[in-house]
Amino acid sequence: MRLSVIGTGYLGATHAACMAELGFEVLGLDVDPAKIDALSRGELPFHEPGLSELLVKHVQSGRLRFTTSYQEVGDWADVHFVGVGTPQKAGESAADMRYVDAAVTSLAQHITRDALIVGKSTVPVGTATRLAGLIQATRAELELPGEVELAWNPEFLREGFAVKDTLHPDRLVVGVDSEHAEQVLRQVYAAPLAEGAPWISTDFETAELVKVAANAFLATKISFINAFSEITETVGGDITTLADAIGHDPRIGRRFLNAGVGFGGGCLPKDIRALQARVSELGLDRTMAFLNDIDDINLRRRDRVVDLAVQVLNEGAVEAPSTVLPGQKIAVLGVTFKPDSDDVRDSPALDVANRLFTAGADVAVYDPQGNRNAAGRFPRLDYVGSLEAAVTGADLAILLTEWDEFKQMDPAQIAPLMKHRAIIDGRNVLDAKAWTDVGFTHAALGHRFKLSIDEETAE
Ligand code: UGA
Repeated sequence: MRLSVIGTGYLGATHAACMAELGFEVLGLDVDPAKIDALSRGELPFHEPGLSELLVKHVQSGRLRFTTSYQEVGDWADVHFVGVGTPQKAGESAADMRYVDAAVTSLAQHITRDALIVGKSTVPVGTATRLAGLIQATRAELELPGEVELAWNPEFLREGFAVKDTLHPDRLVVGVDSEHAEQVLRQVYAAPLAEGAPWISTDFETAELVKVAANAFLATKISFINAFSEITETVGGDITTLADAIGHDPRIGRRFLNAGVGFGGGCLPKDIRALQARVSELGLDRTMAFLNDIDDINLRRRDRVVDLAVQVLNEGAVEAPSTVLPGQKIAVLGVTFKPDSDDVRDSPALDVANRLFTAGADVAVYDPQGNRNAAGRFPRLDYVGSLEAAVTGADLAILLTEWDEFKQMDPAQIAPLMKHRAIIDGRNVLDAKAWTDVGFTHAALGHRFKLSIDEETAE
């Protein structure tokens, strides 16, 4: 079976290389010739552990090729996966469907044989039914040979684990309209199925909704624990212990209860907004209204970090601290939306770095992989090439993305480099005692931070 993958961004490039690894001949298509040139040379335009190796291996073996021609994929492949983006529309909550619509329309116009189109993009419910109609109408009008069917097969891969999640998925969900489409997809996924991956075959609407329901649930879990952070920051208590304790209940589960600066990336934030927009279109205005609060709680975490930075930097000040930070040097550790990725889309860390800069601070940013992408968005921050360079001479360090390099920092080595010993843990991954033992002021999200001056006053 020959496969094409339309759209060679994060999802598409991963899918294409992994399908080649499963033994298929694969042709990746993108409308961006620069991206296609790079991939054809075996160069991955983003960071994802293990993917570069697969790309090189299969470009060299000849099993994986790339093109910009719909004509070529339409004549060649049996199955076409569509993995183009559905970003948030500018100034609106809804998803921008123009790339999916363009990809499916182009396929419908160029397929000259029997084929299955398989949507993988995250889309508003109802899209697959609409596209199935579009495909049939387009092909009837052009009187093209061959039967073309549509299926929907949402993707659940996580950045940083994309190869593993694609080769060994924890479930496979397919929305199909015929027995034939299901059988084709069972052949495509024969290897993970043989490993025991659960197979869920359903209708279009369920398949579309499974994806947005999963992301909405994950976002809700994160904001749930972050809402409790607002309580423990006020009254006292330890947010991590709270998460551990409720997480022992298997009905709740500990994963995705890590309190911190909140969720970002190219999926969770825009998916919860698109879901609300879609259900409102359906006349169900109240149904997903709680997701507004999930979004608000998430965004408030960023305000909290900035407030905490002001508090920590003003520690000991007699007057109420000012909200501007002129000339204070702040080391921002991490700007990607999560570790093991160079993705800064809707990154809470980068947003905080920029807000600190706007408040007048001198911000030195270091991220093991994200500096380049971050500089593309906020060029005026000072991007440095190492952890040491970031913290040297700093009044405050703020850990915002939990890269291993930061989790493993030795406070005794960082201490002499800094002008003032102060650290904010925006991801709850540092051992507070190890830092306070060498004289650091330590503050963390989800933990009450008391200025020394308050304590003195209390005495
Ligand atoms: C997410 C989903 O986890 C994937 O299943 C899905 O396929 C993907 O979106 C998608 O729709 O394409 P991803 O965006 O790679 O994957 O990142 P996650 O691992 O879900 O993390 C999202 C954000 O939540 C990150 O900013 C992370 O730092 C934050 N997070 C995660 C927390 O703040 N606390 C947690 O406990 C877990």
